[in-house]
Amino acid sequence: MSLADSREGESRRAFLQQLGVGTLGLLAPTSLLVPRTALAVCEPPGSPGTPSPWRHDCRPIRPRRPASTLSGPEIQKLKDAYKAMRDLTANDPDDPRGFMQQANVHCWNCGAGPQVHGSWQFFAWHRAYLYFHERILGKLVNDMDLRLPYWDWDEPGHRKIPGAYDTPNDGTNPLWNGTRGMAPGDDLPDEDVGTTVMQAALTAANFTDFGGTASFGGIPEGSPHGSVHVDVGGDMGAFSTAARDPIFYAHHSNVDKMWSDWNKGSSTHTNPTDPAFLNLTWSFFDENKVWRSIKASQVLDHESQLRYVYGPSKFWEILPCILDWVVVKVPWKFGRATVVDPRVRERLRQVLERKLPLRLHIDAPQVSLNRTAIYRVYGDPEEAKADKGPESPGYLGVIPIVLNDRENHHQLRRPPRVVFDVTRRGGWLLAPDRPLQLTFIERGNKKVAGEPRPLNGKQVFFSYGELAE
Ligand code: C2O
Repeated sequence: MSLADSREGESRRAFLQQLGVGTLGLLAPTSLLVPRTALAVCEPPGSPGTPSPWRHDCRPIRPRRPASTLSGPEIQKLKDAYKAMRDLTANDPDDPRGFMQQANVHCWNCGAGPQVHGSWQFFAWHRAYLYFHERILGKLVNDMDLRLPYWDWDEPGHRKIPGAYDTPNDGTNPLWNGTRGMAPGDDLPDEDVGTTVMQAALTAANFTDFGGTASFGGIPEGSPHGSVHVDVGGDMGAFSTAARDPIFYAHHSNVDKMWSDWNKGSSTHTNPTDPAFLNLTWSFFDENKVWRSIKASQVLDHESQLRYVYGPSKFWEILPCILDWVVVKVPWKFGRATVVDPRVRERLRQVLERKLPLRLHIDAPQVSLNRTAIYRVYGDPEEAKADKGPESPGYLGVIPIVLNDRENHHQLRRPPRVVFDVTRRGGWLLAPDRPLQLTFIERGNKKVAGEPRPLNGKQVFFSYGELAE
């Protein structure tokens, strides 16, 4: 058995254990496992018929707030709402508003049926999904003013799972999930959600970079979005199960806020006007079990249409005002040291001297897609071997990979696009005697990941931002 095979066996065992299936279960006919296998839960709702179009929302406009700022009674209400949702699952598993049914909506939209990840569907679909989820929560506690909280992990003091979600840290808490890899007290690493990552996303020049196209995902869908899935781990570590953890909805509320913040960040940060995007249509059950269709065009203005707002972004004050991103191509040989042409090097050095933001883009990087993981990318193999993380001058950033399901039926039809903000690393990267040799290594998994490997991909280039005077 190869190392990879034995690891697959291991993760399958871990998966079965999480299902409450012991060694005996491993030998049992697969039919015994059906109720909770990914396949069984990924079925779309039977035949709900023709959806009634969603028209408009008459709730008052209310803020979605950071989970850490909820008052005691607000936390209690949120817990009551999730408790009611979980009770529905226990008492009437077919009720589409029940917790497992809600979680399964995400499951069957991540590969079993449609795939809402890895394209411009990502932000709009998740916004619509959270919207109907929020209305159901409100209905269950008879308070349509209830709004989802968000986990503002981009705030340095808020890197832990928000208290409501792990206090108490057991099954008496409807916001708890027992499969998490993150324990109370653990912090999300800064390299996954910190300022460098947020800046690269929030300064994306256009929607193609920020939110993707019909065939590619945007920058933040990978990092920070995917990284938080990997870091929380357990159910969150695979798309088919992620929404079984209530923290999913608070995480995605913050991802949704990023979209809102990006739109507000500049007059040029506009959403696609292509009818192929605007007419994307999805269906969800609403709080009255009515099967509704909603279009991408109907979720673009969350304030007037969907009746919620977010607080200000701390990034508006610190983000540079970028007029344009200028692309600088470098001839590239993968798996080999690339000597950056002296003229290109000189041009980029001037960019750094002018203190302009500098980025490194990698299209379709070839990292292993056989497990949920975070890969660190370095500018040279020695640095990768030492793997000191962001401390290292040659560190460039992370590439998170989230599997569709834990059983490894991951089909990454659309490899990620990666953009690293290398403004602070520029001096090191462009040192005249140093060839560039992109190398990656799996974080925190020396045993399995083994040696650092050269990072191959489709295209590599730099871009720099022209700033407004
Ligand atoms: Cu639909 Cu965060 O995944």
